Amino acid sequence: MCGIIAFLGNRDNAGKIVVDGLKKLEYRGYDSFGFAEKIGDKIRVSKSVGKISEFKETAKTFAKTNLAFGHTRWATHGKVNRVNAHPHASADSKVVVVHNGIVENHADLRKMLEKKGVKFVSETDTEVIPNLIADFLRKNSPREAVRKTAQKLVGRFAFVAAIAGESKLFAARNGSPLILGIEKFYPKSDEKLLAKVDGSAFFIGSDVPAFLDFTHDVVYLDDGELVEIEESPTKDHFHGHFFEIASGRPIKKRVISIDLKASRAEKGDFTHFMLKEIFEQKETITRALNQDEKQIERVAELIRRSFGTFFIGCGTAGKVCATAEYLFAKIARRHVNVIFGSEFDTQEAFLTDRTLLIAVSQSGETADILEAYKIAKQKKVKTVGVVNVAGSSVARQSDVVLPVNAGVEKAVASTKATTAQLAILTLLAFTVAGKPEEGKRVLAEAASSINDFLNPRYSAHLEKIARKIKNVESLYIIGKGADYPMALEAAIKLQEVSYIHAEGFAAGELKHGPLALITKGTPLIAFVPMGKFRADVLSNVAEVKARGGRIIGVSPKNDELFDEWIRVPAVGAAQPIVNIIPIQLLAYHLAVLRKNNPDLPRNLAKSVTVK
Ligand code: AGP
Ligand code: GLU
Repeated sequence: MCGIIAFLGNRDNAGKIVVDGLKKLEYRGYDSFGFAEKIGDKIRVSKSVGKISEFKETAKTFAKTNLAFGHTRWATHGKVNRVNAHPHASADSKVVVVHNGIVENHADLRKMLEKKGVKFVSETDTEVIPNLIADFLRKNSPREAVRKTAQKLVGRFAFVAAIAGESKLFAARNGSPLILGIEKFYPKSDEKLLAKVDGSAFFIGSDVPAFLDFTHDVVYLDDGELVEIEESPTKDHFHGHFFEIASGRPIKKRVISIDLKASRAEKGDFTHFMLKEIFEQKETITRALNQDEKQIERVAELIRRSFGTFFIGCGTAGKVCATAEYLFAKIARRHVNVIFGSEFDTQEAFLTDRTLLIAVSQSGETADILEAYKIAKQKKVKTVGVVNVAGSSVARQSDVVLPVNAGVEKAVASTKATTAQLAILTLLAFTVAGKPEEGKRVLAEAASSINDFLNPRYSAHLEKIARKIKNVESLYIIGKGADYPMALEAAIKLQEVSYIHAEGFAAGELKHGPLALITKGTPLIAFVPMGKFRADVLSNVAEVKARGGRIIGVSPKNDELFDEWIRVPAVGAAQPIVNIIPIQLLAYHLAVLRKNNPDLPRNLAKSVTVK
């Protein structure tokens, strides 16, 4: 949800650095973009509607400057147009801001500022921020003006601000991610926590790939923190100072070195990141199983001892959580609660210091999860994060972290992180049951079968099916047990990249209503298991077939009811993992055939940092 990058340092091509950084953050938002550059005592703002990756720079695009910052937008307030794109300037043009998140009290602040004569030009919530800073600047130092502004904002946000005439950058965080990168960082002392850091250049980004070409020394800002970056009096390097927003007191922060390799992602020979990430599942399941045994046993023990375990996730991660209900029932004979991150606050009545919260999140920055964590902390609930992005907010706020180890996932549609998360929850269920070795064996077999079946020929088979259904208006997916949440996940995958209306149901539920939607040729994707539920699901399939439905069976074994058969290996408790893979491929091919960009689906963003 919006990418921010800012630069201040010993280089004179700040504008170019920022635009290149924005291109790396495009997955965070891509409806419009803009950047600001310090030119003498003024700040020049350039903005455009469209994708940053399509932006063509010319020799005249950038000024020679050492201070710039930019933004790729995912609109929350105000249409997608040039005026609403960031950066936003104060009415007196003195203050320029880029912002990620929502200012919930923007209407009140706007009224208050309008009474003082401020004229607003955009429909965004953001525009109150530069204007508030400009208002505070009348009686306060720049840092105090930024701090007091941050204090006035209600909601989750991160913003970067610059003030005309100042060689400084300010950034504040409350809820949305902000990471500081320091080039040629020093002191390289043993000192772990620092109130002031020095470097030849500073970057501020909503995610580390924005500046990884320059440095791997970073400071993660936490909620309620502010950083001021300024030129040293000797003018040969720069300082970063950290402060608490509430009190204005200096605070100490830790500089950490991040693993460069783990944070990079290139498309290689693949046409899209989504396809590359689907194919990476040949390795990612094995990597997901590479857990610290003590940690996973510790989580298992927390589950055994808890009086109520809640799994929370959003979107795809929510569907992964929903499989846990079935996996834990079957493998560990234990009931667990599953609820969307955004609904967790409805469960307050049940939360005590004996409750356990397990959050599943690829990005670790999803606002609905972080809001749930706030409640969890208030109620002294223990937290476990199953997170892909190391160093993310969820990872840092969890009592225990189980790393997903899927590597950078760039495509907005989650694929490899999904199956890796499924593998971890399956292993956890086996560990709670006291059978971790059996879990590892089942999952290792599944991983090796993925290695066998996931090949270009398989993908071509899925493309052939995609060609046959590419013009349908709706399609439906059914499954029973843990395949039911996978049917819901299949629907998300198909919706987000193919834009075809897709809905998932528990197999037995169709006849209670949705069957009315089936007409001649309506595709039904059915996850048809082996074993005792096969007959039940096949009956449900027959009911659809009888009404003209076109049946796409996903199963280890063919059946005469199937119009198309998508073969998957039989892998016992790991079946949901292998079942979802062909649907990811089907969704990918449908997207390409329908001329959609599967990596950047319309209206979406990779990490959803607003409520
Ligand atoms: C996945 O394909 C979706 N783009 C989306 O549902 C996503 O899974 C959801 O927003 C949760 O994100 P997270 O895993 O980063 O928390
Ligand atoms: N709320 C702001 C807007 O709509 C920022 C959105 C974002 O995070 O990109 O412009």
